[in-house]
This record gives sequence, structure tokens and C-alpha cells, in this order.
Amino acid sequence: MSRAPSAVRPDLFEATRRTLQREPKELPPVWLYDERGSLLYESITRLPDYYLPRREAEILAARARAIAAQTEARTLVELGSGNARNTRFLLDALELERFVPFDVSEQMLRTSASAIAEAYPQVSVEPIVGDFEHDLGALPTEGPRLIALLGSTLGNLYPEQRAELLASLARELREDDTLLLGLDLVKDAARLEAAYFDRAGVTEAFVRNALAAANRELGATFEQGRFGYEPRWDPEHEWMDIALRALEAHVVAVPELKLELAFRKGERLRVEISSKFRRDALERELEPAELSVRSWWTDRRGDFAVALAS
Ligand code: SAH
Ligand code: AVI
Repeated sequence: MSRAPSAVRPDLFEATRRTLQREPKELPPVWLYDERGSLLYESITRLPDYYLPRREAEILAARARAIAAQTEARTLVELGSGNARNTRFLLDALELERFVPFDVSEQMLRTSASAIAEAYPQVSVEPIVGDFEHDLGALPTEGPRLIALLGSTLGNLYPEQRAELLASLARELREDDTLLLGLDLVKDAARLEAAYFDRAGVTEAFVRNALAAANRELGATFEQGRFGYEPRWDPEHEWMDIALRALEAHVVAVPELKLELAFRKGERLRVEISSKFRRDALERELEPAELSVRSWWTDRRGDFAVALAS
């Protein structure tokens, strides 16, 4: 397992200091993915209303051979690989020399990399712990490479962050490399809200776990009972705005960051956005990075898309 520079925490601490002082206050979503958070996310992927992974699986099952034919990839890099379940459709279809799962969450990476190594003994599995917003320089150079960002993880970045990521990916890509994006599409608000507000409370536990992680690593004094869970669809930005709302006015100390955060009653602490995509808007986002969509596939219901760009 190799470790990229940002796997160390100071960058994240500094980013957290900045976003906690923004309006609205925000915890960077990386706090969601400690060991417990990664397991909770896995439970989310099995929730009936959380349709994303099943739609993506439907597309990849149907299109993995076309992806193999179009890319002729020998190296598959997966950014934010998590448990890499849907990646197996690609591993089955591509004739790979190496698979490089890349994730900030070390424990999940370790577990999924060894499961893949066991299931695909012919492929060299070379995991990297790192932050894809900072550490793309750590990627192996042997091509042709297919760089995948599945599960709509791109949607957890703000448009400006996406622009930066796409620009650095474009700098990284060579002539024979391709980019594969899994993207959740804009749809009616009720279905989106149901996907992020399950009755079993798994998503709420996942989001609240970010407070527990901040308490543990930053010495913060967030109290779960003083916040309610509040995911909502933002039709202007076309993203799910996933937040905890202060139930009363109170102050939270964050000693590691030398911050005292005053919350008003009703004030939101954003933990994540989950942007939903449209093809034309994505094409416009790719343009400045000189990337273009070569193939665009959706599931039968038109809920989710997989795009191949180069
Ligand atoms: N691709 C998997 C997992 C999606 S969950 C799937 O579709 O099921 C998002 C994953 O991205 C998590 O495993 C999380 O740890 C990882 N992640 C989030 N932000 C990251 C970052 N900046 N750098 C690297 N990995 C990141
Ligand atoms: C990883 N990411 C694409 C998920 C999403 O849908 O935005 C994270 C998530 N948050 C709550 N549920 C799932």
C-alpha cells in the first residue's frame, strides 16, 4: 500500500478550519469516511431508496465490454474506490495488468484491495491512500489507463472543485488514457429526498458520524442531541444539501483548530452536497479541461449515467 502526501492530516485540518468559518458552516465530507463511516456508507448502498449503486451496476453490466473495447485499458485507476463493488464489472471485462484503488479511507482500502487481489489473481493490485484533490501525481504511469470515478462521487464536490479536479485529471491524462464517470442525474425532488432520508436512519447515522470523527480527531465538542438531521433538495444548484441543523443556540469548541463556533438556533452545519447531473451541463464542465464525452450510457429508467471522456 502506498501513501500519497495528503494522506497526512494537516491539509484536511486547514481545509476544515476554513469551511467551519464559512456561511453556511461546513465540515468537509472527507470526515464522513472514517472506518465506521465507510461501513455505514456500505449499508446505505443496500437501502431500497438509495437507487444509485443498482442503476450504475445495470449500466456497467451492459456496457463493460464496450468500455473495454473503446479504452483497451491495461491500468484501471479508481478514485474514491470504497468497496469497489461495481468496479468488478470492469475488472471482469478489461484485460488489465494493474488495478489501482485510490481512497482516503485506509481501512476500507485495505479490505477491498485484498478482496480484489484474491478474486483477480492475474491483476496486480496496487492501492494508494490519498486525496484525489491533491495527490494525482502519485498515480502509476503505465497505460493505457482508465481512470474511474464511480458512484457519483464527483457530485460531492462543488463546481469549482470539480473544475480543478477535471483540470488536473486532464493534465494527468495522456493520449491513450480515458476517464470514466458514474453520475447521478437530476430527477424529481421526492425521489432524491427519499434516497437521503431513509426510514431506518442509516444515512442520518452516516452524516452524524462526521461529528463523532471531528470530536475524536479535533477534540471538538459537538453534541449529537443539539442537532437534527436535515437533507434537502436545492433546486437552484441542483444538489442535495445534506446538513445538521442546530436545535438551539449554542457554542461548539474545536480546540485543535483554535475555534469557538457559535451556532444560532436553526443554523445549518453542512456536511455534504450531492450534485445531480445533466448531460449538457457536464459537457460544458468538461470543456475548459479540453475533455469531451465519447460515450454516454444511462440505465433503463434514466436515473443514472456512465460517461466515458477523453
Ligand atoms: N466508489 C464507491 C465508493 C463511493 S463512496 C462506490 O461507488 O460505492 C465515496 C468514496 O470516496 C469513499 O470511499 C471515500 O473514502 C472516498 N473519498 C471521498 N473523498 C475523497 C478524496 N478527496 N480523495 C480520495 N477518496 C475520497
Ligand atoms: C459517495 N456519494 C456519491 C454519496 C452520495 O450519494 O452523494 C454519499 C452519500 N451521502 C449520503 N448518502 C450517500
